Amino acid sequence: MSICLTWYSHACILIETEGTKLLVDPFITGNPLAPVTAEDLDPDYIFVSHGHGDHVGDTVEIAKRTGATVVSNFEIHNWLAAQGVENGHPQHIGGGFDYPWGRVKLTIAHHGSALPDGSYGGNPCGFLFYIQGKKIYHACDTGLFYDMKLIGEEGIDLALLPIGDNFTMGPEDALRAVKLIEPKQVLPIHYDTFDVIQQDPAAWKALVEKETGAKVALLKPGESLEL
Ligand code: NI
Ligand code: MN
Repeated sequence: MSICLTWYSHACILIETEGTKLLVDPFITGNPLAPVTAEDLDPDYIFVSHGHGDHVGDTVEIAKRTGATVVSNFEIHNWLAAQGVENGHPQHIGGGFDYPWGRVKLTIAHHGSALPDGSYGGNPCGFLFYIQGKKIYHACDTGLFYDMKLIGEEGIDLALLPIGDNFTMGPEDALRAVKLIEPKQVLPIHYDTFDVIQQDPAAWKALVEKETGAKVALLKPGESLEL
């Protein structure tokens, strides 16, 4: 069976694998590019990379309504529990866990993680998913870091990299990230949502495919790709 990955704009993706729905960073309400409403989503698991509002997003509402298990760092896990989210699974950077549908390891990310109410949100992370023999690296919000090379050594099938600049890597550093990770395929994310992160993804695709062996997938919000 294939894996279906849908991009809901910004850092929000839905991964569907063998009937299980995994939702990452569900920033839907207040997101001008979101092609769905939070009520449309019924994930089995939610992953929260860090505490910022454009990543925690609708996590509390969706988790309470669906009973989805929320995977995050320990600090965000405690904060979500205090908001009434009952099913949480805390992990932390460097740690992996085998879920019924596959494995997830939390990776480093260079960013902040304060929660919307100012609470301490621990350290931000990225996610490395191991599903059906495929490896998907979601960098989440981060600047460029050389240890991306270590992540790449695992053999990445698909890397999701921010290209928006200002809050995360921009196009030039994201190109350098592709060179460090050497994924088979890349999906640019975290751009065009706000005025300060407007980018030209087609130009970035052309540059990456000229300078690296990676294929760049470009999706419009709501579009999917199969792995
Ligand atoms: Ni952020
Ligand atoms: Mn962000």
